[in-house]
Amino acid sequence: MSGQASSAERGYNRKWPHAYFRACLALDYMLPDRAKPIFERIFADYRRVRNKTKLKIIDVGCSYGVNAALLRTDLDLDDLYAAYLDPSGSLSSRQEIEHRTFFHNQGLRADIQFVGVDPSFRAVRYALDLGLLEAGVTADLETRDLTVKERSALADADILISTGCVGYATEATFARVYEASATSRPWVVAFAMHPFSYDDIAAALRAFSLQTEPLERFAQRQRRFSTSTERQAILKAMAKLGMEDRLERTTGYIYASCYISAPPGEAL
Ligand SMILES: C[S@@+](CC[C@H](N)C(=O)[O-])C[C@H]1O[C@@H](n2cnc3c(N)ncnc32)[C@H](O)[C@@H]1O
Repeated sequence: MSGQASSAERGYNRKWPHAYFRACLALDYMLPDRAKPIFERIFADYRRVRNKTKLKIIDVGCSYGVNAALLRTDLDLDDLYAAYLDPSGSLSSRQEIEHRTFFHNQGLRADIQFVGVDPSFRAVRYALDLGLLEAGVTADLETRDLTVKERSALADADILISTGCVGYATEATFARVYEASATSRPWVVAFAMHPFSYDDIAAALRAFSLQTEPLERFAQRQRRFSTSTERQAILKAMAKLGMEDRLERTTGYIYASCYISAPPGEAL
């Protein structure tokens, strides 16, 4: 998300994820849900090309492990909204054992491991405690380098993914994360909400000899405009950048473009 609300109001860094899911639902945030089949398709391509079964995924801006929860189970985002926000939902309590049991009972896939990168350390802690993430890096990589320990958590990655985070995380973060895992030549699949540009991130990844392509047919709804003022501001910024805004104008939703970066000739 992005907009007028503060990070605290959006519930980014709480001990429990309820405020985050409430803020997301209020804006009909749906990107991780829409991104899930695209990630799954790209994971399948990657497995075929690299002849691998077990994947190590790095999620930049992982928050409470939302992508891990969706991609390691058959759940969709509405299941999570209901589980967290319905008063009788399985995740409505603040009892760690209940949350852990819920995800355990979903049969978390073991062939996809997640390492999260997000300065919201309480959110990352939650996802680690529940077993959604294998490891977490809670640094703000916009402002500092990785430590040796953090670098080793990111080594040997297969694919970097990101939803709802480009803008907060820029080429500085992506370059630092990629550099720590560059030996295994991971692919990068990221969604960037309009009007955020991906050009600087693509340029940073080019320095690692990755080729970036926009996957135009995979652009997805991220969330509703929060206010008419935000709608005006985003449409104005998109017009200034010459971005196609037909979907935003018609639907009342902000879209995110999808980009894939990989060694030349490897992906799609
Ligand atoms: C809208 S949430 C998206 C969370 C999750 N990926 C999803 O789609 O539900 C944005 C996330 O970006 C994180 N974030 C903010 N600054 C960041 C940075 N410099 N590096 C990585 N993540 C950052 C926030 O803490 C928050 O968890």
